[in-house]
Amino acid sequence: MAKNILSQKQTKQITMFGTNEFPSYEEIIDAYSKEFANYILPKGNTIFGFWMQTLADLEFLDLELQGLTDEYVIDPINRIVNLKGDKEFIRLRIAHLEKVNGETTLYTDLVDKFGDTNAYAFHNLYPYKGKFYPRVVRTLINAFKLKENSIILDPFNGSGTTTHESSLMGINSVGIDVTPMGIVLSELKNDLLFINGQKLDFSQNELGDILNSIEEKRWKHPEPLIHKLMLAVYFDTVDAFVRTSRYNKKGKLGLFIEKLNYIKDCYNKTMEVKEKYALKFKPANIIEKDILNLKNINELKEKFDACITSPPYYFSIDYVGKDNIAYDYLGIDMKNIESKYLGMKNNVQIKANYEGLPNKVIMYYEDLKKSIENIFWALKSGGKLAIIIGDSTVNGEKIPTTIVTKKFCEEAGFKFEKLIFNPLLGARNRAIRGESVIICFKP
Ligand SMILES: C[S@@+](CC[C@H](N)C(=O)[O-])C[C@H]1O[C@@H](n2cnc3c(N)ncnc32)[C@H](O)[C@@H]1O
Repeated sequence: MAKNILSQKQTKQITMFGTNEFPSYEEIIDAYSKEFANYILPKGNTIFGFWMQTLADLEFLDLELQGLTDEYVIDPINRIVNLKGDKEFIRLRIAHLEKVNGETTLYTDLVDKFGDTNAYAFHNLYPYKGKFYPRVVRTLINAFKLKENSIILDPFNGSGTTTHESSLMGINSVGIDVTPMGIVLSELKNDLLFINGQKLDFSQNELGDILNSIEEKRWKHPEPLIHKLMLAVYFDTVDAFVRTSRYNKKGKLGLFIEKLNYIKDCYNKTMEVKEKYALKFKPANIIEKDILNLKNINELKEKFDACITSPPYYFSIDYVGKDNIAYDYLGIDMKNIESKYLGMKNNVQIKANYEGLPNKVIMYYEDLKKSIENIFWALKSGGKLAIIIGDSTVNGEKIPTTIVTKKFCEEAGFKFEKLIFNPLLGARNRAIRGESVIICFKP
């Protein structure tokens, strides 16, 4: 312990006999934390974020630096980077550094404000299953050198992580999905960035009335955003009650209000960051569509500079079933949605020879292959593709989707560039140990 720190300010806690003076509790904590910081904080101007924990994170840092500057050296032992280039631009973009040139990065500001490395802005609006990490999307946008006039596609946009992150970074995007709940959530995340915050202000009584009218199925609001937002908050509230009795004390209205307050808090924090950095958010275009019919939208041909996407993993997550509360309420037939899912169509013609694989897996692979061909069609020449995918294990058999996906990309005409395996630390399902990011480009 550094003695000099303690002796500087002898705040005087005198023993009952008046014989000794001790530093105050605050001084002791202060001295310990300074010494602790001395050991654990990287020493330098441009330092790693504390969230960098895996070798994959190191590869992601390398990847995004390749896109952001021409000259850099990563020093992984000291957790610092030496770089040249437009440091202010890098500071506003990079997702793996805490400081650039001694100044806190925008990403660190988001992490600090929201207390989480992924649940910032409206990314955590609703617990959509199979969401991927916004940090990975940000990294890929940087790696692909995308600018404000670029346009990004996610044809499996789910709850809109790609489109939301693109909007936050001021880049145009189009998100496509077959799931109505995914469409609603992506639209909400998008629209919330552009509303007047006062529209989210409701009194407790008003919220009580809204909850009642939703429960009695007579809820209507002239503003589509408010209409859908209240429904989403309601579905999330009901789902919480189904899963645990923890909220009984709060009651349904209490939890409903709490969830809405969380969204208002996200709004305020997001707008603070927007103002601080003078950000220009870009609206995303959200389309309800089956990727296998993408070519029906002729204007999407060779339109995109990049595609960042994550197809459904082979039967590892029941995307539709997790939203059964919403679909029951809205009277939407889940079977109908599921029948549009990759691998769930009965009219697939099996062309390739997949020796030994069960029929259901083959059907999924055939759809996946066609999806990748459609992505190829939608990208400009030189366009970049990042597919995030994982292998699942079914009845003890590993389904080798990662390598099959890479093969499909090459067969569709893409040039393979890189595969980064990202372990899912703490994943409860040991069948999914991690996921891979496959990076390619269209020659
Ligand atoms: C792994 S999730 C993507 C999640 C998304 N990245 C997010 O952060 O929310 C896969 C998505 O593919 C969608 N999907 C499945 N079959 C589809 C199809 N034929 N066309 C378009 N989307 C499809 C599902 O609805 C699901 O949202």
